[in-house]
Amino acid sequence: MSKLIYILNGPNLNLLGQRQPEIYGYDTLADVERNCAAVAAEKGFEVKLFQSNHEGVVIDTIHEARQTACGIVINPGAFTHTSVAILDALNAFEGPVIECHISNVHKREAFRHHSYISLRADGVMAGFGVEGYELAVRRICSIVSAKK
Ligand code: DQA
Repeated sequence: MSKLIYILNGPNLNLLGQRQPEIYGYDTLADVERNCAAVAAEKGFEVKLFQSNHEGVVIDTIHEARQTACGIVINPGAFTHTSVAILDALNAFEGPVIECHISNVHKREAFRHHSYISLRADGVMAGFGVEGYELAVRRICSIVSAKK
């Protein structure tokens, strides 16, 4: 059984640390990957972080995860609010999925309040800053470990 957790990031998250830091903070995706790897290692898991600005690439990576990953943490960025195709891809993945938003999307514009991804997610993080990724990884480790 795989011990690899995918951390998928959608559009504009490559700019994490530079983009609207008053909302998203100053940590970068490299910081997220390092912190999540440390959390996962404590539990005997590994992480692999991906980012793409392209919906099809996010979908292809979810398809790849079907063969390689035991769980997915996904911050789909703005695709959260638009993408039935990413929802469909996640529905074809069997392991746990945690949706993660750095900001509290419910405190923001109304168009951010709806998520297609939440129809599939086993849990949702919103408003915990980049720490939300670590909490999401911790949760995936617990779910996967409990299944054995
Ligand atoms: C986000 C929230 C989305 O509404 C937004 O489009 C993002 C980032 C978050 O992490 O808070 O790009 O997913």
